[in-house]
Amino acid sequence: MSGAQVKPSSSYINVPPAAAKPAPNCTLVIFGAHGDLTKRLLIPALYNLIGAKLLPDGFRLLGVDRVEGDDTSWRYELRDTMEEFTKDRTAEFYTPVIDGGTWNWLTDHAHHVKADFTDDADIERLRDMVSGNVVFYCAVAARFLSVIGDQLGKAGLLEQKDGAFRRLVVEKPFGANLGSSQALNKALLARADESQIYRIDHFLGKETVQNILAFRFGNGIFEPLWRREYTDHIQVTAAETVGVERRGAFYEPTGALCDMVPNHLFTLLSMVTTDPPNSFNAESVRSMKQAFLESLQPVRPENVVRGQYAAGSVRGRDVKAYRESPGVAPDSDTETFIAMKLEAESWRWSGVPFYLRTGKCMSGRRTEVVVHFKQAPYAIFQDTPVDRLAPNNLAFNIQPKQGITFGISAKVPGPRMDLAGVAMAFRYEDSFRQEPNVGYETLIYDCLVGDATLFQRADNIDASWAVVDPALQQWATGRSPPDLYVAGTDGPEAAAMLLRRDGREWTSIAS
Ligand code: BG6
Repeated sequence: MSGAQVKPSSSYINVPPAAAKPAPNCTLVIFGAHGDLTKRLLIPALYNLIGAKLLPDGFRLLGVDRVEGDDTSWRYELRDTMEEFTKDRTAEFYTPVIDGGTWNWLTDHAHHVKADFTDDADIERLRDMVSGNVVFYCAVAARFLSVIGDQLGKAGLLEQKDGAFRRLVVEKPFGANLGSSQALNKALLARADESQIYRIDHFLGKETVQNILAFRFGNGIFEPLWRREYTDHIQVTAAETVGVERRGAFYEPTGALCDMVPNHLFTLLSMVTTDPPNSFNAESVRSMKQAFLESLQPVRPENVVRGQYAAGSVRGRDVKAYRESPGVAPDSDTETFIAMKLEAESWRWSGVPFYLRTGKCMSGRRTEVVVHFKQAPYAIFQDTPVDRLAPNNLAFNIQPKQGITFGISAKVPGPRMDLAGVAMAFRYEDSFRQEPNVGYETLIYDCLVGDATLFQRADNIDASWAVVDPALQQWATGRSPPDLYVAGTDGPEAAAMLLRRDGREWTSIAS
């Protein structure tokens, strides 16, 4: 498509952010103080929240870890990682300079606690260090989530007394299938109320993902088309150029389906497909999402394609096969690519297929949801048969491009009435000032102020696993080797066939 660009009205330019108030005084306890998540995402997000004046003077950060350390050494370690962001202009979270005042504010409020959360005496020591409002953030491997919940519960640290809140933030993966996610939810709910548990899906922290709801429900003209009468199908893509890198030990037992589908891809899909909630509060939004997830039919294993990258080249960079990565078995059957077709039984979506795919080492980096509308019924143009009219589609570009692209047909200049597909594009950077953002700012702030709208409820998680469970169960019955694809391509041929057999094509990734 050519790129005819429509600029939004200038009255939209640089709208200041809505005046948000600083969060209430509280202590944020992070388990996993030395981990990658803390250093690369949580600390930069806190730094940005301080810059936006959204943390209160009575904020305290306790970084808990078994690793030896003290306040000074931890601060140096955090600073080193922050400085990496100032050096690499191409880095996603590029930060030109670290503001001294903001950084000092953060480190003055941050303390290192050497403690082992499996040790009762250490947890009791932690209990003596906190009072009032406390958020416990589990930035640790998934196998420790229920352990931390248990330990905090046993020590009375999750009891909410005298108007103070106690919250527990858990990261994905939430279990590895329906059974284990139910068990994890049960274990956490034995120690805390659902309203105290904040299950993070970091895709919901992305502005562009939140904008899907703003676009759909803040504009009156699209919703009438958002149904089976006008929608042909919907595609969700999360294509990455990176490989498994140093994460083999985590990825090997996980694979692309569990890593990305019931969490991130379903989050994207449900933002696009959910019915309008009555208000933008946590229960309304999550209940509408739940209604959609429950309408999704369990996937049919024959509608699932698994792939694994073989050696190849991604954007000019030579890449070794997945099986040669550190921590990966030489005969591994773990999938690094997955594509599937899903269907929903609902008044709105019955008969509209949803095609989802995600993979590592693909031809390009692109996360998007594309709503493909039905073809015009009849071509009035003499030389243009209806099957040559480009059907309209609307793409929510999540990353790296951030915006919305509308695919339409337009007349090619000249004496003939020839049509060509063109694009109308809205780009965030054209209309709004770019604020520093690593994607966790809104999520941390929302948790501190008690707004769970962007977090997953227990039933959302279980309903998502229920959809993919038939595939997981089938794979568990024996070897099911994935199809190999050359690194730097768009996945195995079977993924293309999944759509071709329905007379459709995937949207291109690399362009
Ligand atoms: C994580 C997965 O949850 O999401 C990773 O574990 C994946 O494997 C990542 O690379 C993708 O997130 P983003 O924000 O980089 O698109």
